[in-house]
Amino acid sequence: MHKRTLIQNATIVNEGEAFLGSLLIVNHHIEEVLRGQDAESVCPPDEVINAQGCYLLPGVIDTHVHFRDPGLTHKADMKSESRAAAAGGVTTVLDMPNVVPQTTTDEALALKEAIASERCVVNYGFLVGATNENAEFLRRINRRRVAAIKVFMGSSTGNMLVDHEEVLARLFDNSRLPIVTHCEDTTLINLAMKKCQTVNGPDPAVRFHAQIRSAEACYRSTELAVRLAHEYDTRLHVAHLSTARELELFDLAAYPKVTAEVCLPHLLFTDADYDRLGTRIKCNPSVKTREDRDALRAALADGRISTVATDHAPHLLREKQGGAARAVSGMPMVQFSLVGMLGLVDEGVLSLPRLVETMCHEPARIFDIENRGFLRPGYKADFVLVRPHSPWTLTPNRIESKCNWSPLEGRTFRWRVEKTFCNGYLLYNQGHITDEDHKGQAVTYAR
Ligand code: DOR
Ligand code: ZN
Repeated sequence: MHKRTLIQNATIVNEGEAFLGSLLIVNHHIEEVLRGQDAESVCPPDEVINAQGCYLLPGVIDTHVHFRDPGLTHKADMKSESRAAAAGGVTTVLDMPNVVPQTTTDEALALKEAIASERCVVNYGFLVGATNENAEFLRRINRRRVAAIKVFMGSSTGNMLVDHEEVLARLFDNSRLPIVTHCEDTTLINLAMKKCQTVNGPDPAVRFHAQIRSAEACYRSTELAVRLAHEYDTRLHVAHLSTARELELFDLAAYPKVTAEVCLPHLLFTDADYDRLGTRIKCNPSVKTREDRDALRAALADGRISTVATDHAPHLLREKQGGAARAVSGMPMVQFSLVGMLGLVDEGVLSLPRLVETMCHEPARIFDIENRGFLRPGYKADFVLVRPHSPWTLTPNRIESKCNWSPLEGRTFRWRVEKTFCNGYLLYNQGHITDEDHKGQAVTYAR
């Protein structure tokens, strides 16, 4: 039985354009993208959804989330966080390997796939982790099964540091998959932490976090990653740039295989926010200065940065107690990334087509994701309806994430996620997940 649904009279934003039109979907797929007011499909639809006044965008692909499953499910799990994703207009997530057990072996990957197929309500894919020892696993891995290899070139939550220079060189030389790096120089960080502790005691206040995890530490490590990628002709996507200076390392015209991501915390906050928000905005790499934030925003708008992700990294508030040494790093963000970025569109930071480029199209391109990320006939019907001029204020009762807090509490957003369709299924509708047991699909990669 083929069900034909027409989403009518939205402003469709896709592939560099915004136009009034309608989308015809048949079962899981997009059938037609129609232009103009009251556009009619050749064959009449079974159902019409009036989307007048809404913008229709491809579902967001968030290529950097930590859903904590398995092993850390007191913080978050696949079900809770994928619900948060759906409520935020995110239809596909790529999940990171710093869970327990770490996703660095065949068995651990199979376990994660099994959990996601049971519990993840949106579409999903995985990065596997590199260690100083698992080269053999990485060599054998099926390139159509995994999004990329994550390399922690600086240590962060989860102890996955790869710090042997010859291991890094071999990884970059042989990689059959894109490499995604976390770049912060651990030696510089450890030195700065010791120095800060000598003056301020064992747990310095969180406002010192950006001095400890410094711009210099980011630059040194990103510089090494980029240099290795140039040397070995590696496909490298550097995660969460956080400084103005790192931008000089990227030249897409000369090295199109070396790309950069920016995450919501580094686009929305500055070090002036530590006083107000404390450890809620403690993350690695650290949130830095207003000049850094503004340079990242400009680079996102003009194309030097390719993708926006969240680094959604939920922790319980009690784990966020303490200062720069004791409080854990990371914050939940997946539910509010789209409305947060739409706020930046309103501020004139970037255009709506550029938002769609950086949150939908480029993630699909960079990770070779098949049949998603664009509104095209034959592609999966992953899309979101967002309504402008519809203000609301973030209060804890709206939060789907298990940890139940957000660094954005109290913020008023002008856009609202009204409906999220995932594989043609209306998964989120005006404040509610329509089916908690809905199952997303494993994404596939065109390789
Ligand atoms: O702030 C962070 N939190 N940075 C990371 O690299 C890891 C993440 C986490 O998993 O908590
Ligand atoms: Zn991360």
